[in-house]
Amino acid sequence: MVSKTILTTTLTAIALTAAMTGCKGSEPAATATNASGETVDVAGTIKARQANFKAIGKANKAAKSALEAGTPDFAAVAAAATSIQTDAGKIPGLFPKGSGKESGEKTEALPAIWEKPAEFKTAADKLATAAGALKTAADAKDAKAATAAMGEIGGACKGCHETFREKKQ
Ligand code: HEC
Repeated sequence: MVSKTILTTTLTAIALTAAMTGCKGSEPAATATNASGETVDVAGTIKARQANFKAIGKANKAAKSALEAGTPDFAAVAAAATSIQTDAGKIPGLFPKGSGKESGEKTEALPAIWEKPAEFKTAADKLATAAGALKTAADAKDAKAATAAMGEIGGACKGCHETFREKKQ
């Protein structure tokens, strides 16, 4: 009986050790340095920026359908525009050095982001400016100006993706 207990305990310990060493969490997580010189968790940062782009995409779709409704819902367009503008302002801060593919994490961010940071920032600003124009147009209930701003927003997405996001095969 005693030896069986010892054996069971030993096996449990071995299994636990194996589980722990096999666990990715036991390795130090990849880190990067942000613009303020702080160390940040790469995986978490990539998740946050992808969620930010998803939110931008969602608001963009919401603005489009609100504008294309029989009677445009300008309040909804304005709200979506504000959301896009706010999220566009977050883009540059979500790409700390070291959070590209070299981190080993899954990301479509191209090295050009860190090679041409000023251009990347300009591309993000373009989206924020276009979203600002959409907000102004929506507040003025000007469908024509809002449609033009939507075109500018679409151009800002495409323009940045062409240079800074990996193309899907
Ligand atoms: C300043 C550059 C820039 C602008 C502007 C931009 N994007 Fe992106 N977008 C990126 C980059 C870079 C990625 C890849 C991020 C990653 O994988 O780490 C991306 C990823 C995405 C993703 C995928 C997110 C995920 O879940 O992985 C979507 C959706 C997206 N963008 C939509 C948009 C839309 C819609 C717009 C315009 C309204 C837009 N983006 C504007 C650079 C930009």
